Amino acid sequence: MPTTIRSLEAKLENGEPLTMLTAYDAPIARFVDAGGVDMILVGDTAGHNHLGYEDPLPVTMQEALSNTAAVSRAAESAMVIGDMPFLSYGTSLETSVENAGRFLKESGADAVKLETPPGGETTIEITARCTELGIPVQGHLGLTPQRMNEIGGPVIQGREGPDSAFADELVATAERLEEAGIFSLVLEGTTEGVAKRITEAIDVPTIGIGAGRHVDGQVLVITDLLGLGAEDYKLSKQYTDLDEIVRGAVEEYVEEVEDGAFPARENVYEPIDD
Ligand code: KIV
Repeated sequence: MPTTIRSLEAKLENGEPLTMLTAYDAPIARFVDAGGVDMILVGDTAGHNHLGYEDPLPVTMQEALSNTAAVSRAAESAMVIGDMPFLSYGTSLETSVENAGRFLKESGADAVKLETPPGGETTIEITARCTELGIPVQGHLGLTPQRMNEIGGPVIQGREGPDSAFADELVATAERLEEAGIFSLVLEGTTEGVAKRITEAIDVPTIGIGAGRHVDGQVLVITDLLGLGAEDYKLSKQYTDLDEIVRGAVEEYVEEVEDGAFPARENVYEPIDD
């Protein structure tokens, strides 16, 4: 059964935690989907985890659309969310909405995600226009990596405390995003207290990454979970070590070709020339 906004709401009402993982290509998306996650985010973390950039900022619309289309083709039941790349939204309302629409029209995504800074009028307006037109939007608050240069690095948001003026502003922004029609809200890199306050303040589900335990669901970056070129982030958990497995397989292949063990008799088409 495909995951829909309604089925996410039903899970939330039943008190069941929601799950989301990133994926950037079809083979991994197939496993993520079959593993039972509710949502696959084709994140702009593709920049460093898939496309070889330093960070997410260089990711283009074309790259994001292509990654999202590959994931959509592979996913049978998870909701596929296309992450709008840096400056593909925000420069004008018209371009933002057109670009958001391209994820649904050209890539088969079910929804888009876009980042909002505290009080971010521009993205709240874009969100409202998109949802009015039928483009479901997932919000993203807290540590918003597309604004890393402005924020000054990977700084955890809300250390001032859950009752601070900054926390008040994040809560107010979450409420405005909810009014604008978001169906869920990613909370990244915030203290637990702030994430808890936001989760209590809005009815749509909050999905945390480095936001602690008092949220409605969790998201991780797939390469971190798989240990594929991953960094050791406190917020994450590595469930396996693909680096080790891939390195071993490649080294064994090179060794076997070099010493003549591969290809062997069983890898050769008939008639076999012995
Ligand atoms: O781009 C991404 O992968 C994300 C997640 C970290 C939430 O935004």
